[in-house]
Formats: sequence, C-alpha cells, structure tokens
Amino acid sequence: MEDAVLATKQILDLYFKGLKIRSIDIFKEYDKVYATTTENINGYLSKFDFTNKTDALTVLASGDQAFSLASLGIPNITTFDINKLTEYYALGLKRSAICAFTYSEYLTYFQVLFDPNTSLRTLTDMIRHLFPYMEPKYKTYWQQITDYNYKLQLYRKNPINLFHILNYSTAHGISKLKNSYLITEERYNYLRSIINKINITFDPLDVFDLPNVYEKTYDFILLSNIADYIDFYLGPNWTYESFRKEIVRFHKLLKQDGIIFIAYLLGRHKKVEDTFDTPLIYPSLMKISDLTQEELIILPHIENDREFKLLDDALILERKLS
Ligand SMILES: C[S@@+](CC[C@H](N)C(=O)[O-])C[C@H]1O[C@@H](n2cnc3c(N)ncnc32)[C@H](O)[C@@H]1O
Repeated sequence: MEDAVLATKQILDLYFKGLKIRSIDIFKEYDKVYATTTENINGYLSKFDFTNKTDALTVLASGDQAFSLASLGIPNITTFDINKLTEYYALGLKRSAICAFTYSEYLTYFQVLFDPNTSLRTLTDMIRHLFPYMEPKYKTYWQQITDYNYKLQLYRKNPINLFHILNYSTAHGISKLKNSYLITEERYNYLRSIINKINITFDPLDVFDLPNVYEKTYDFILLSNIADYIDFYLGPNWTYESFRKEIVRFHKLLKQDGIIFIAYLLGRHKKVEDTFDTPLIYPSLMKISDLTQEELIILPHIENDREFKLLDDALILERKLS
C-alpha cells in the first residue's frame, strides 16, 4: 500500500511540475486509472445467459466490468490489471460508493466528483464521506492521498480536480447505458444488496501471465481492449497468427461453454457503409477475414449516454464448446 501512496503522490507532483503523465501508450505498474468504462458493457453482457454462471475473470480498470458482472449474479469475480492503482480506485472508492449510496445518489456523487468546478474542500469531504465504507487498506490510501492533495493545492488560485489528474475519461461521466449495474435502478439495488457477499479479488498481473498463474476455470473472461496495446509484446504489425497463439493459452481457463471476450473494438464499424476499419486492431495487420474460429458481435457505440449515429463498437469472442 505504501508503494501505491508514493506512486500516486508522484503522479500529483509531476502534474504540478508541468510534467503531465504521458498519454496512454503502454500501461504500467502505477498509472492513471480509467474513471469509467469506455465500453458498451451492458450491450454485450445482455446478450448472454447468466443462469447458473458463477465465475468470471476480468480486467479491473474502472471496476465497471466487475460491478456489471456482479449485478448479473456472478458471485466469484477474479480481477487483474497491470496497473496497481486500479484496485484503490475501483475496489476502494467505487465499491464503497455502491455500499453508501442509493441509485440517484451514486450517479450524482460521481457527477459532482468529476466536475472541474467542485471545490477542493467539497471534493476532499466527498472522499472522506466514504471512509466508513472502505476496507482499512483503501481507507488509509485515500486518507493519505486526500490529505496530500489538499495541502498541495490549498493555496492554488484554481485547484485542479484530483480525479482529472489521477484518472482518464472523467469527462464522459458515469453512463447508465453502458453499465449493466446502472441500466435500471432495480439492478443497482440488487448489486447493493449483494455487494458485501460477493467475492471480488484483485491480482496485479499482466494479461499474458494469466494462463501461467490461474488454475481455476471461468464462465466468462473479459479482456477489454487490451489487444490495442499488445504491440509492446508482439511487435508492431503483429499478425492474427501471433495473437491467436496467445489466445489459445487462455482455453485452459475456460469452463465448458465458457466465453472469452477477446477484444473490444471501439468505434471501428461504420454504420452507414457496414464496413470495419482495417486493420481491425491497431497497429496489427489483423483483418475481419482472419476471424474464422471467433464470433464478432456489433454493438451500439455510446457517447454521452446516447447511441452514436455513425459508428458502432464490436467485440470479438470465442466459446469453448462442449
Ligand atoms: C485497455 S484499458 C481501456 C479501458 C477499457 N476499454 C474500459 O472500458 O475500462 C483497460 C485496462 O487494461 C489495463 N491493461 C492494459 N494493458 C494491460 C496488460 N498488458 N495486462 C493487464 N492489464 C492491462 C489498463 O491498466 C487498464 O486499466
């Protein structure tokens, strides 16, 4: 935990020294965290039957994937992320907000929390409000970060919202449409009623290490759009064959009839022409015709909590057939 506090303080220090943390190219051990999902999670999860499904493995990121799975009745959720700060944000702050707030309070809380006009005092008090709902480790982290940020910015003429420094995608706000746990008030209330009973674990792991580390099998595996960043491992212009070799390693983690959501394709399908961007995943050479063993589903792209007119998202998935 001390390392996470030090790393977060360093992100704040660098920001105020004018060295804004570099934009996303390669994710790393301690990095800014996605505040909210960029994916239409409810768009794809709602296409599947969750009856008698018990185990899921997902990237943690903003926590929205894990909370959506929990709201659909999955009791055991294993999360991983290369970025260790995701745990403090998703399982610390966001999870405690679910415990603390009703549906409308939750939505308003994050709207105010991410608002650039929210004062330093209000923002600090809002985080402190959640301390009674946090596990000790997360409470200590947020206590130290809020104190540090408060002292750092107290005499600034225009304090900067902490979450604009520590997170990506705060501007989008929390989307009801994208998230299964927010799509209806009933679903959120269900999640709230079980949040303390479900088993959500976190491991700081690189995606390609998962088949080496985990022994269990899962009904669902969610890899988000990590494939957009794997040129770090596979080199630029990587091919479908090299990608496929990695995906095959995940089969041992799937139950019979289990599904692996291999790659989320954000805004890659042109609605009007009914065509996909080539390559399918940047910066690979992957084409739609490469997908012979996988399925591809097309989903509405959501922007500002509305369906976007010109582009769709898509998802590559594979089922382990019995
Ligand atoms: C790919 S990002 C993009 C946001 C995503 N579309 C969402 O809706 O949350 C999601 C997460 O993947 C993590 N990530 C990126 N590369 C990774 C890797 N090689 N192994 C594990 N996690 C990784 C990032 O740290 C980030 O938290």
